[in-house]
Amino acid sequence: MSPSTDLSHLREEYRRADLDETDVAGDPIEQFRQWFDEARAAGVREANAMIVSTADAEGRPASRTLLLKGFGAAGFDFFTNHESRKGEHLAVNPRAAITFFWPELERQVNLRGPVERLPRDEAERYFPQRPYGSRIGAWVSRQSREIPNREWLEARDAEYRGKFPDTGSPDDVPLPDYWGGYRLAPESVEFWQGRPSRLHDRVEYVQTDGTWRVRRLSP
Ligand SMILES: Cc1cc2nc3c(=O)[nH]c(=O)nc-3n(C[C@H](O)[C@H](O)[C@H](O)COP(=O)(O)O)c2cc1C
Repeated sequence: MSPSTDLSHLREEYRRADLDETDVAGDPIEQFRQWFDEARAAGVREANAMIVSTADAEGRPASRTLLLKGFGAAGFDFFTNHESRKGEHLAVNPRAAITFFWPELERQVNLRGPVERLPRDEAERYFPQRPYGSRIGAWVSRQSREIPNREWLEARDAEYRGKFPDTGSPDDVPLPDYWGGYRLAPESVEFWQGRPSRLHDRVEYVQTDGTWRVRRLSP
């Protein structure tokens, strides 16, 4: 049976750039840095937005968009509520996959690997840098729980704004116990460049015994 909304005519041809396994950087973090800088320079909106996929103990997956807040040789960092659905998933199944899609450059990057909680002092360092409303939001939201209605949220927002008034100081709102960071330490990083006729370039770095091997994957 055909789907009721048929989108089979929606397609793009990719021809902006190419990617060869002999041209990439020696390690994927450096390659990611180059592509991330190019995404920013190309004006990609929220270039640090990424789809993060986790799975529960039975392997049932869930995906959501998060903001990358830092990266380096140790991994890729994001901040969230540890009691959210993703937090529950990571507690029982500490692995994730991340996808960046930068359509303006016809590129995606896929990372997979184990995830660890960042030490609390990383959250203590980052939390005060968030705007006041976002810091209050971390108290207001019981992330991923069912709530009765919008009014419930707004009433809690008013309650916490009263409890922790905006003094203009970064420490006017304390860091909630259940809020903090995670780090995905990639075991594989794939750089995907769209090419004509679906003959895309896929270059994947795979880590074994601390060294990165580069291979080309079939599109
Ligand atoms: C562009 C964008 C950025 C987001 N960044 C974050 C983030 O950094 N941390 C976060 O907890 N939620 C972020 N969210 C909300 C998440 O997508 C998600 O709704 C929330 O984390 C709950 O996910 P969960 O129920 O799967 O745990 C973002 C949403 C969008 C669209």
